[in-house]
Amino acid sequence: MSCHKYAAAFMPKEAIGYLACLLVPAILWLYLRKIVGSKFPRVGKNPWIHGLANARNDFLKNGRALTEEGYQKYRGSMYVVQTADTERLILSNSFLDELRALPEAQLSSRAAQCDRHLGYHTTLDVVNQSSLHSDVCRAPLTKHSAPLALALYEETQFALTKVSLAKCVPDSEDYEYFSAYPMMMNTLNRVMSRALVGYPMCRNKTWLSTAMSYTINAFTISGTLRDQYHFLRPIIYRFLPARREIYRQLATANQLLVPLLKERATTGGKIDNLQWLTDSAFIGLAAINASNMGVVNAIFDLCAMPEYIETLRKEIEKCTTEAGGWNLSAINNMERLDSFLKESQRINHPGIFSFNRKVLKPLTLSNGSVIPKGTFIAMPTYFIARDAEYYPSPEVFQPWRFYEKSKANGKANSQYQFCSTSRENLAFGYGKSACPGRFFAALQMKIILADLVMRYDFKFPDGQTKRPESDFADERISPSKTQLVGFRLRKLAK
Ligand code: HEM
Repeated sequence: MSCHKYAAAFMPKEAIGYLACLLVPAILWLYLRKIVGSKFPRVGKNPWIHGLANARNDFLKNGRALTEEGYQKYRGSMYVVQTADTERLILSNSFLDELRALPEAQLSSRAAQCDRHLGYHTTLDVVNQSSLHSDVCRAPLTKHSAPLALALYEETQFALTKVSLAKCVPDSEDYEYFSAYPMMMNTLNRVMSRALVGYPMCRNKTWLSTAMSYTINAFTISGTLRDQYHFLRPIIYRFLPARREIYRQLATANQLLVPLLKERATTGGKIDNLQWLTDSAFIGLAAINASNMGVVNAIFDLCAMPEYIETLRKEIEKCTTEAGGWNLSAINNMERLDSFLKESQRINHPGIFSFNRKVLKPLTLSNGSVIPKGTFIAMPTYFIARDAEYYPSPEVFQPWRFYEKSKANGKANSQYQFCSTSRENLAFGYGKSACPGRFFAALQMKIILADLVMRYDFKFPDGQTKRPESDFADERISPSKTQLVGFRLRKLAK
């Protein structure tokens, strides 16, 4: 018997009529509330009117313009925008201090990452189950910086001279041209691997290709599934080639690393291999890509403004001489290089938003606004970093901007270092969940850039004087992936 026949058998016709009279307005009311009744103003297309796919697509193409519109209209307050993944409540950075103190159980960075990158389908939901991925950055990668700096320098030299730039031979006058983005990505994969899995595994070709393609596959899965309806995702997921690849890669990595992990488990504490692997893979995902963008942007900026190279060379020379070689102290003293990287990152921000969080328990802001459970929030870091209120002449690249600020009162001020976070610069996030790998990132990026500057001349192809425009897609900002840069070994280089 069909449903309506059941209903007719057990309910009189009048009751069905009354029920319909109640339900239809209730559904209509809920729907209209979403369209006109939201307490927050909206920028961009409303998915309840234009359709979710349409609104998402709009942000995918016009994310920068929509966020700029939001910044200009609601700079000190908040607005809602449908992004390519979730709907987000974009908040002014004036709320940062009250939000930073909230516990993860109320305002969660991990839940936001997991939901936005479809963690369940990409194995990244592991970040919800442990803090190992953060702990790895905080302890082994940060506490042992001195021996790590030496190892990273050694690996950088190997990766550049023997692999990435091996075509550049001594005494040649000619530049060899490379697509800077993929070339540096491979270099960083090697250097990062040296830190994560050590020597000799960091030179193992299977490990290197596994680490690299895991990242690409995880993005492929989340990118493909994001456009599908929730109920279809588990079905489509089963048929994605990238899913099979990811599990194959985890198995390969497991096989390679189990002996290594056993050897390292000196404390007697149990290490869950798969947990460690996926956590390391997560670090790779977050770390290689972001660090690569920073290094490539700095290379583009130096090609466009070669007049700053000499100052950097002098500083690097001085620091290594005074410290007796390429050690942690020398790297830490390279303050102009640090400032150059920070200014390059300020102008070429890695994304439009930062401080992405999911509200797990309703919260009330100081202005009385109540943010409901389930809301995804973010801050418009790209526009904050280009706001004249925080940075005079914000569109002008001033390489020593942060160096000069740090020296302003005659005493060193770590607040302006590359790895520092502030209300005006959220490139590394803010508060308890700010990037735990930023100290390592600074070390690694400074070593790579300093080595490049000292041992190579580099430039854009003849006739090109300006850096290429960055690519904006969705909320991501990436330096050109195809820009060629010419390299040759300097005559003085050893
Ligand atoms: C220039 C390079 C990098 C940038 C711009 C960057 C940026 C970020 C940002 C914006 C966050 C989110 C913070 C927040 O929401 O408050 C984050 C989280 C994270 N980053 Fe980085 N990062 C970089 C390099 C690295 C490196 C090299 C590592 C590892 C060695 C790393 C490991 C992580 C981890 C594990 C998290 C998640 C933290 C958590 O869940 O609590 N990052 N990063």
